[in-house]
This record gives sequence, structure tokens and C-alpha cells, in this order.
Amino acid sequence: MRTLRIFFCCLVPLGVVTAQPAIPPAWGNDPEIESKIDTLMRRMTLDEKVGQLITYSAGAPTGPGTGRSDYKEMIAKGQLGSLFNLVGADETNAMQKIAVEKSRLHIPLIFGLDIIHGFRTEFPVPLGLSATWNPELVERAAAVAAKEARRAGVHWTYSPMVDIARDARWGRIIEGAGEDPYLVSAMAAAYVRGYQGTKLSNPDSIAACAKHFVGYGAAEGGRDYNVSEIPQRLLRQVYLPPFRAAADAGVATFMSAFEALNEVPASANASTITQVLRQEWDFKGFVVSDWNSIGELVAQGVATSAAMAAQRAILAGVDMDMESNSYALNLAALVTSGAVSESVIDEAVRRVLRVKNAMGLFDHPYTEGKAQGDIAPEDQELAYKAAEESLVLLKNDGVLPLKAAEGKTIALIGPMADDAGQMLGSWSARGVASDVITLRTALTKQVEAGHGHVVYAKGTNLAGNSDSGFADAVAAAKKSDAVVLALGEDAPVMTGEAASRAHLDLPGNQQQLLEAVAAAGQPVILLIFSGRPLVLNWAAQHISAIMEAWYPGIQAGPALGNVLLGVSAPSGRLTTSFPRAVGQEPLYYSQFNTGRPARGVDLSYPPKNSIEKYLSRYIDVPNSALYPFGFGLTYSTITYSPTAVSATSVSAHALNVGTAKLTVSAEVHNMGSRAADEVVQLYIHQTGTSVVRPVRELKGFRRIELAPGASQKVEFRLGRDELKFWNIDMKDVVEPAELTVWVAPDSTQGEPAQVTIGQ
Ligand code: BGC
Repeated sequence: MRTLRIFFCCLVPLGVVTAQPAIPPAWGNDPEIESKIDTLMRRMTLDEKVGQLITYSAGAPTGPGTGRSDYKEMIAKGQLGSLFNLVGADETNAMQKIAVEKSRLHIPLIFGLDIIHGFRTEFPVPLGLSATWNPELVERAAAVAAKEARRAGVHWTYSPMVDIARDARWGRIIEGAGEDPYLVSAMAAAYVRGYQGTKLSNPDSIAACAKHFVGYGAAEGGRDYNVSEIPQRLLRQVYLPPFRAAADAGVATFMSAFEALNEVPASANASTITQVLRQEWDFKGFVVSDWNSIGELVAQGVATSAAMAAQRAILAGVDMDMESNSYALNLAALVTSGAVSESVIDEAVRRVLRVKNAMGLFDHPYTEGKAQGDIAPEDQELAYKAAEESLVLLKNDGVLPLKAAEGKTIALIGPMADDAGQMLGSWSARGVASDVITLRTALTKQVEAGHGHVVYAKGTNLAGNSDSGFADAVAAAKKSDAVVLALGEDAPVMTGEAASRAHLDLPGNQQQLLEAVAAAGQPVILLIFSGRPLVLNWAAQHISAIMEAWYPGIQAGPALGNVLLGVSAPSGRLTTSFPRAVGQEPLYYSQFNTGRPARGVDLSYPPKNSIEKYLSRYIDVPNSALYPFGFGLTYSTITYSPTAVSATSVSAHALNVGTAKLTVSAEVHNMGSRAADEVVQLYIHQTGTSVVRPVRELKGFRRIELAPGASQKVEFRLGRDELKFWNIDMKDVVEPAELTVWVAPDSTQGEPAQVTIGQ
């Protein structure tokens, strides 16, 4: 076997990087745990060590399988330290018994599972959860998932996905918190705190896994598994920060991604895994590969055999091989031949054992089995709150809230109106459709309680072109006072992994149904159930109201019903930009200005003069999003005072050493007669800097409740963390600059204030 050279080819030399080291969690540096590991490792054979570096799926696959099923034999021989996709106290305990009682060293297994937005209690999909802009709620939702999972024998979730996603074509945009590094970082930390609790060894804690490290969301063309090319500054500035936030929150594990990042596959990438994660961030947990991502190094072309793939991955710092067989079949021989030093294996094993120890698995390997009961009432309530806060009202000409008075008829139309399974999204761990209350059930009950009437017609299917249901739908619309039309993407098929789309329209003939129903002449409220931004131009022009519902989870119906009927007010805000055309993708608010910015220029073409022509613009669509990042309406009118700053000048030096901070504030006023939650957002822009900075960057947000007529002053602090960026020398510092700040309801509004950052 050839010795492979691992290059730190992708990132600037270590010496220049000035990021602060992370603070490892207590379990990362516990002398007692380390000495227990030393003692154990002295007794381990090479074979047993390799066993700790492997995990196999014992259940439904999410990729090509290995064909192996001899797990029991492997565990008994100490050749397998982890399984995933195995759920249930009895099922996991049976396997654990083999590890603990039959294997020579009694090392417990760690059981993993993809718990993405709930275990049994299903919350909105992660993109929907992010639209709550409520990290505290997300933390509580993750804690519910952890409690339920741990009681079912699961120790470890492959969540949160903290990939920045700026391309709506990418199906996995549904699994993350959107396009912005500040928001995704806040959510990343919230998930980790929720899953892991105050201590990994708590009976209701599970280990989290920050994935997919790194750059997976920047797949070229939005095509899943495709390469990503991310220049160093962008990587540091945008794609790495959410992972760093997860590390700082003490996340126990990372997952290395599938894609080749700057031509080096993420699962063989020493510059990100060893240099950034282990050396710069001092990460003490372990890195698991994605499903067969080590095996796929061969197809990617950086390995010509599974052995070479294993060698590349382990040398890059991937501690555990998920489902590729490459480590199981090759690592021991690689060590024997001298191609991989045993100390490399030892380091990986130590990391795995560290997490198992921190989780208390050596002391409490078994799940003291309570069978999965009903969902606890307080968890139902949290699922309701999450669903309600995730709904984003995009347009309302006044038809909402619906007046469901006596004698009024609402036509409820569309394939999403009564489909319980769809409400669980594309990846719902142990969610069951019978837990879901659909919109049809909830709305009918509510409207009938007020002596109104709901008529239902499915209209069409999520896919296909049969219009056999159109006539009933149109007839129902004609008989009604208003139409609620529930359309969207077939969650398991069209969203999530391996579900990239080149078109972002309503699938099948749903657009035709929408137009047919609209032609009936009643006001139409369009509900979109989707895992990504769709192109909604026609609806934006012709339909009375539009609400993005994502996939809201088990409480879909009650949340939607209450918001439609005005029992509560919509309060979600977009975390991804909704495009006007697919050709705008990747579309995100924090773009650079260019030398020829076209903001504020109207779309007329041909342009009136050469000044209008030679701009950074499309000739056939405005540059802007149809619905921008941060946007969402409510039933009240909220106004903002001009942005105020505590000082109009401040020194960069003082900011860098932490002795100065700015306070930025605005008075937010509820002018209406209804209570409303408002998501107050802080944006900045800097000029005069050594590198170009985005036109706006989110640097703070707060969700507040405003009673009718109430005002609240909302204050944000801006210090080093918010104002620094990776400058021309790749130093992460605050530079002298002209700073513009906005306290605003979304990424396009607000009145700016200016601050000079001097030397
Ligand atoms: C996905 C991961 C997931 C893993 C295990 C892969 O296909 O990319 O996100 O955690 O499967 O199910």
C-alpha cells in the first residue's frame, strides 16, 4: 500500500488564522474519563479497536446497503461498536446484551438514528422550525425528541443539519435552518442544547451530530451529492460558523459530508476535519462518515480501492465509517502494512470511547424500558406552538382572518387538506400519521362550532395530470364564501435527500387547479406545503392570501385552523428567499453590491438608457426575491421607529479587544387592534473595508409579543463577534469601516443609522 500524503490544501496556513479556540465541553477533557480510556485501550486488540470505528444500519436504508447482517457475531467478537436504525428498548437491549455480556471487553454499543424534527412527537420540519425564529422553542422541541428517543433505546441522533442552503433546488434545504449563518448558528446551538441537555449522561439526553461537514448545502446547481466550490473566505464566513456554533455548544459528534469540497471529498478532507475541527476548534468528540461516503471516495476518484479510501478517510480524521465496510475490511491490514500508524487508530478509538463514557454507557448500557406511550399533553402543546409559530403569511389582501360566522361556507380544497402523512414531512423518525390532526378535521370542527360549514374536495393529486377532481373542486368553490386551497410538494418524494428539482413550480397539475378554482370568483387563501421556496408569481398576482405552511407536524390542523380563523395571528418569518424565477438561484439576501448595483431600478426592458442597461441585473426579472429573507405578515400593523445607535463613532481597536460595544435600538409599535408577535431583526453593512461585505448581514434578532397598541424598545449589542469578518489577510477582525445598521422587520426594510468605526 502506497503511503498517502494528506494535504492541508484547502485552507490558509494555520499561523494566519486568528479565530478564538472553542471551549471544549467538560466531558472533552475529563482526566478521570481519559484515564479509564487509557486503561481500556491498553487491553484492546487492533481488531477490537477497529470495531469501535464502524457503524452499520440495522433497519431501513437511506443509501446502498453493504449486504451484511452478521451484526450479532461481530458484536460478540468485539468487532462492531455501533448500530443505527435500530429502535425500541427491547431491540436495542438485546444487542447491547451481546456487547456487554459476550464481548471480551464488554464495551457498550452506541445506537444512532436520524431524529430530524421529533422522534414520535413530530414538530414542523427543520426549515419550518427555523421560520419560528425561536431558538428557545427549538431547544425544547429537541429535548422532547431526546427524551422520547432515549426511552426507546436510541443514544445518538444525526441532527442537527446545519448546512447553509441558498439554493431552493436542493431538496435538503428542508432539513436545515435556511440561508443565513447567524440564524443557522443560533438554531444549531439550540438543537445541541436541547438534545444533549445539561449533561450527556442525563437519562433523557442523547448525543447530537452536526452535519454535513462541510459545504454540502452548496452543491453546484442544487443537485444533491454534487461538488461544492467554496472559496476560503466564504467557507470561513458563511459555511463553517454554524458548525462552530454546534462545537461551542458542546456537540458530541460531527458527520463528514458526501460532496467534494474544492475538489477534496469532505470525507477525506484533512483541511476541514483535522485542521479546522480538531486543531483550531479543539473538538474532542468523534466524526462519523455519511452513509458510505468513505466507499464513495472510489467513485469520486480519489481512491482506486476500498483500502485506499479507508486510508484517506482515517488519515483525514474520519473516526467512524458508516455503512461502507471500508474500515471493517481494511483498517487492520493498513496498520499491519504500516500504511496507517496505529496511533491514528488509537486517536479515533479514544474519541469514540470518550463519547460513550460521557454518555454514561459503560455504567448504564441498557434502556430501562418503558414502552412507547402516548404523546404527553405538554409535548402536544409544544408541537402546537411550534406549528403555529412556523406559519408564514406571505400575502393578505384582507381576506384573513376568515370570518367563519353562522351561515358561511368555506370550501376546503386540495390534496394537502386531509393528508395526515404529508404533515410529517420527508423524514420523521418514528412519527405516525394517526397522531396528526389534519386541516380538514380541525377546520371543520372549528367552523361548525361557530355554525358555519366546510365543504371539502380533494381537487387533484400531488402529482400526475388527471383533472377528474377539478369539477367538484370548482363547484365547491362556487358554493362557498371563501376557499382555502391546500397545495404543495409530495414530501417523501419531492423533498429531502436525493430530491433536487430543476423546476420550482407547483407539481403535477396543481397550478391548473389553482387557476380553475380562482376563476370561480371567490376569495382564495392558498396554503403551500413545501420543503423549499417555490416560485409563486401567479398566486402572488391573483390570489387573495398566501401562507407558507411547510410541513407542520402532528398539530398541523389546529395550528392552521386557529391562524386562518384569527384565533391566533401568524408570526413565522422566512429563513430562505423565495425566488421569482429558478434562474435567480442560488438566491440569498446577503449578496454583494457589485460595482453596478441595480437596486431600485425598475424592470423595464429595453432599458431607457445605457446607465440602466449596464447594471448587474436580469433583463427579464428583478434581482430581488418575491418574498425576502426575514419576511412575514401578521394581522396587525407593526411600525418601527428610525434605528438609534449609542455612538456615531467607535474604535476598531476597542471593539477588537472587547472594551467597546455599540447599542442599536428601535421602538417597535403595534398600531393595530390585535396582539402580534414580531420578529425584530438587526442587520449591518460595512464599507471601506479591505474586502467587499454583503449588502446586509443579520447580526441579531428577537421575537417579542406586542399587545394591541403596545410599544417596546428593542436593543441589540454589536461587539467584536458581530462586526468582525475574515479580512484580506484572512484575519478574523473588526476593521475600520463605515457601518450602516438597521433594526427592521425583514432584510429589505428599516431605516438605517450610521456609525464610523475608526482606528
Ligand atoms: C444522509 C445523512 C443521514 C445518513 C444516515 C445519509 O444518506 O445524508 O444525513 O444521517 O444517511 O441515515
